[in-house]
Amino acid sequence: MLYRLFKPEDFAQIYAIEELCFQPPFRFSRGYLRQIVQSAASATWIAEQDDVIAGFAVAEWAQSADVPEAYIQTIEVAPEHRRQGIGKELLRRVESSAQAAGAGSIWLHVDSENTHAIRLYETHGYHHEGREEHYYARRRAALIYRKPLRDLTATA
Ligand SMILES: CC(C)(COP(=O)(O)OP(=O)(O)OC[C@H]1O[C@@H](n2cnc3c(N)ncnc32)[C@H](O)[C@@H]1OP(=O)(O)O)[C@@H](O)C(=O)NCCC(=O)NCCS
Repeated sequence: MLYRLFKPEDFAQIYAIEELCFQPPFRFSRGYLRQIVQSAASATWIAEQDDVIAGFAVAEWAQSADVPEAYIQTIEVAPEHRRQGIGKELLRRVESSAQAAGAGSIWLHVDSENTHAIRLYETHGYHHEGREEHYYARRRAALIYRKPLRDLTATA
């Protein structure tokens, strides 16, 4: 598996993965995904095998915050490539980019019923920080997780 940063010509493939991974109301619109991957204050990592994209992850960071922090917008692996360590490696890569950009911590929302993603975060140094009711839709809550980035090697 090759890990590299996003290039504009990857967009159609990553949006196809978005459509495989999420149904509305969880799915990003094309316009929103394009906006976050093109932001100067974000990093999008791609996992690719034989010119086919298997997964991607996007983190962004606040440029003007007093205590800079990063936010994981998404991490997605195509169904046929799951459970091979790709999600874990994409997570590690977006954390490293966020740390290099000066972020002291990284946080995210995750659907309270997304047990696989919750397990990924809980086993990789993220602690539960809160819950937002109706975040995705009526009666669909998000959990908030955060990880300090000061010592990535401790939880790698
Ligand atoms: C969540 C997701 C990104 C994980 O990707 P992945 O490449 O399969 O993950 P990995 O193989 O790196 O697994 C890392 C860890 O995550 C957890 N995990 C991932 N899939 C799991 C599953 N099906 N059952 C239980 N634990 C799981 C495990 O702790 C696993 O570690 P282990 O294999 O050592 O037990 C993937 O399932 C996915 O794309 N889901 C749909 C999109 C999504 O929900 N993204 C999260 C948005 S917040």
